[in-house]
Amino acid sequence: MRSILFVPADSEKKLSKAAGTPADALVLDLEDAVLPDRKPQARLMMREYLGALSDRSRMWVRVNDLTSGEILRDLAQTVPARPAGILLPKIRGPEDVAVVGHYLDALESEHGLEPGQIRVMAIVTETPAAMLRMGEIAKQAHPRISHVAWGGEDLSSALGAGDPRTPEGAWRPMYEYARNQCLLLGHAMSVEVMDTVYVNFKDPEGLKKSCAQSRYDGFTGRIAIHPDQCAAINEAFTPSAEERAMAQRIIDAFQSGAGAVSIDGKMYDIPHLKAARRLLAS
Ligand code: COA
Ligand code: MG
Repeated sequence: MRSILFVPADSEKKLSKAAGTPADALVLDLEDAVLPDRKPQARLMMREYLGALSDRSRMWVRVNDLTSGEILRDLAQTVPARPAGILLPKIRGPEDVAVVGHYLDALESEHGLEPGQIRVMAIVTETPAAMLRMGEIAKQAHPRISHVAWGGEDLSSALGAGDPRTPEGAWRPMYEYARNQCLLLGHAMSVEVMDTVYVNFKDPEGLKKSCAQSRYDGFTGRIAIHPDQCAAINEAFTPSAEERAMAQRIIDAFQSGAGAVSIDGKMYDIPHLKAARRLLAS
């Protein structure tokens, strides 16, 4: 998954616009893009929207967190709508995923879904507690987790801190740390790792640069908040023809049977071979 577009589930207009975007996946939001008194309406609209689709393989739903008092109602409406997965925000540690995993087990059984069918994209940096427990989340590697993602805004709010970005737009050290923790966690678990939102949706040049950096750093995709961001994200996370050709050259060079080879005066060894194989498989 290269791009996943957030769509507030209580917005008729945005729901109707969403289908026409090039996003690889959509996430209908029941959480922070929906005001508390609109949540029942958002759940109904999510259910109706998903119910009208024959293919829900690119559909996700963000539910409210475990302390919200909303999550059981969210899951009770979401599971029968059969999305590919849920985004689970503000986790505090591996137990939160385990508890939600049990809720999903029960609801999948009740509604005749395959056990384990609904996947989880865990948002892993939104609470200080989770930030201290990355190793445990990796070690317990809940089998439903197919993606991890990170966000800075809720962490800064939990810390009573200010804007997570500098006036120049760079992440302040705490959020750079959170971003790196998420990257390490995703790769330690061998799941997809999604970079957080680029909030200036009217800055296509900035988005492009930022996405190139995300991919370079090891993210496998990125969250979008506006339809205009999806094509740029997809492009940034699609290996170019040149990159594919170079990866093929590296693989071909290793046909010689050597563990280290030279191409155009540069040394390539096994990590390069692995990276080339991964790139061609993506
Ligand atoms: N999904 C689907 N459609 C969207 C959309 C989205 N996320 N964001 C904007 N659109 C639609 C608008 O409804 C508008 O449709 P129209 O052409 O039929 O009028 C069109 O795209 C252009 O939108 P624009 O006027 O540029 O933006 P806006 O002011 O309507 O909305 C935001 C700006 C940021 C409020 C909006 O993009 C949004 O709600 N994003 C998602 C926020 C979210 O879910 N946050 C939680 C996760 S971080
Ligand atoms: Mg949030």
